[in-house]
Amino acid sequence: MTVTTKRAFNFNAGPSALPLEVLQKAQAELVDFKGTGMSVMELSHRSAEFEGVHNEAIANLRELYDIPENYEVLFLQGGASLQFSMIPMNFVKEGQKASYIQTGAWSEKAFAEAKLFGTPVEAASSKSNNYKNIPALSEIQIDEEAAYLHLTSNNTIFGTQWKTFPTTGDLPLIADMSSDILSKKIDVSNFAMIYAGAQKNLGPSGVTVVIIRKEFLEKANSNIPTMLKYATHSKNNSLYNTPPTFGIYMLGEVLKWVKAEGGLEAIEQRNEEKAKYIYDVIDNSNGFYYGHATEDSRSLMNITFRVADEELEKKFLAEAKTAGFVGLNGHRSVGGCRASTYNAVPLETCKALADFMVKFQQDNQ
Ligand SMILES: Cc1ncc(COP(=O)(O)O)c(C=O)c1O
Repeated sequence: MTVTTKRAFNFNAGPSALPLEVLQKAQAELVDFKGTGMSVMELSHRSAEFEGVHNEAIANLRELYDIPENYEVLFLQGGASLQFSMIPMNFVKEGQKASYIQTGAWSEKAFAEAKLFGTPVEAASSKSNNYKNIPALSEIQIDEEAAYLHLTSNNTIFGTQWKTFPTTGDLPLIADMSSDILSKKIDVSNFAMIYAGAQKNLGPSGVTVVIIRKEFLEKANSNIPTMLKYATHSKNNSLYNTPPTFGIYMLGEVLKWVKAEGGLEAIEQRNEEKAKYIYDVIDNSNGFYYGHATEDSRSLMNITFRVADEELEKKFLAEAKTAGFVGLNGHRSVGGCRASTYNAVPLETCKALADFMVKFQQDNQ
């Protein structure tokens, strides 16, 4: 008997779709991990079995991103949101400035936390344009005296994404890559630090990945609580206290899946193809649909769009829900529609949405 697994057309913004193969492997290993007679969740985090899982995940992330030797990979907790506080707490010296590029709600939250520890300044902002675009590189004020320059590589809510990152010389560049980590190749050495909550491209929520240059980490302030110091976690291979073991196991399985899919080049190519299906429908709709982001700043991870007629938009979202599409409502702060097309969202799911959008237009204009 063939059992077909019911899988939704999942466009959730995060937590979001995970690869079916990963879920099935986790299911198969759930009650007996590698002959231990225990679930991964029941293993001691000090056991050889768990350390194997943990170190393999770190090694695979290093391999996929080609992370240089002088960088640490840390698995932390508290989400990307705790990084908003930990970054200024660790790296802003008394009276020092820190530069932030404002490209959306998450950048604003990071900026607000920095105010508690120093003087954040805006290096560039697209707020006046309702965050429809990523500022041009020429607009960015590079302040060499600042502790760092912070940016959000992909704006989950507004649907914009950096295509080229600024080169900042001696000024440490920090990127919140929560919603596009591992979606394409990047040059890690361009950044002093990269961080991301796992729950979009990396696995379930509960783990936050930090990739940090050792020389930068060594400059951190010391008069801060133990758990909030990057040094505590780097000295202890992210095993200072009990880590989210199951989340790290799942993250490790997702990394193996990315490798098996052909690595980041293959993933990037597929992400481009997936997003193109949907953007093409928007662009060819004669204004029936319109995108929020300007074309040069469009995200390959979060496609934000509107149906020009407000009543039809409500109908679109209701009918899409009935047809089995999940997570298409825009973020509550901006409304409209959003399709999150993260790594694990299959091409067929994006094509199904594109076909649905074309049909809906034909039926309703
Ligand atoms: C770009 C970005 N940064 C930060 C966050 C906050 O992440 P967390 O919920 O892990 O704190 C999110 C969540 O969606 C996000 O999309």
